[in-house]
Amino acid sequence: MALIARVVVEPMRHEDVPAVHEIERLSFRTPWPAYAFEQELRSNRLARYLVARARDRIVGFAGVWLMVDEAHITTFSVHPDWRRQGIGRQLLLNLAELSIAIGARCMTLEVRESNSAAQDLYRAFGFEMAGRRPGYYTDDGEDALVMTTPDLSGPAMRRVLAIERERLAG
Ligand SMILES: CC(C)(COP(=O)(O)OP(=O)(O)OC[C@H]1O[C@@H](n2cnc3c(N)ncnc32)[C@H](O)[C@@H]1OP(=O)(O)O)[C@@H](O)C(=O)NCCC(=O)NCCS
Repeated sequence: MALIARVVVEPMRHEDVPAVHEIERLSFRTPWPAYAFEQELRSNRLARYLVARARDRIVGFAGVWLMVDEAHITTFSVHPDWRRQGIGRQLLLNLAELSIAIGARCMTLEVRESNSAAQDLYRAFGFEMAGRRPGYYTDDGEDALVMTTPDLSGPAMRRVLAIERERLAG
């Protein structure tokens, strides 16, 4: 595990794609190809992507598509050497704030049924199970759980985000 350093979260740029793709490759069985990120940055005006940087290297990233008033998390990962240090929390907090800023009412995502680490993190951020997509993952037929937040500007989510901001500050 790499030692924690100050982590800054900012919009993903084209020059970040090789490092992002490397983390994607280390994290997922069916990674997005690098050109998918390039295309997203170039031409998907409903998409927003963030990277987390520590000591000038990219250690994580996340993205959403704004679908009407839902911010759908498309991808989210922290480099294996940098996990369990709060970077996932920091990215998710920034993603929630970004989602609010672009007019989302809630956030949604699909997560592997077996991915309890990610599910724990999402639950800490107010996500609740909203459904199941049987056989969603084509590589092995695993089910996806659909998780969604309550209203991002409602009291429950405001409380969650305030706690996360305090945790990050302190
Ligand atoms: C999910 C992921 C992004 C979390 O990133 P991270 O930087 O390690 O997360 P954090 O350090 O901010 O952890 C936040 C919380 O998530 C949960 N969590 C994270 N990793 C966990 C693990 N290995 N086991 C159990 N809980 C875990 C814990 O509740 C943790 O809080 P705690 O540290 O106070 O116990 C990271 O594990 C990852 O990239 N996984 C592979 C890709 C992936 O599954 N992405 C999500 C696809 S839906």
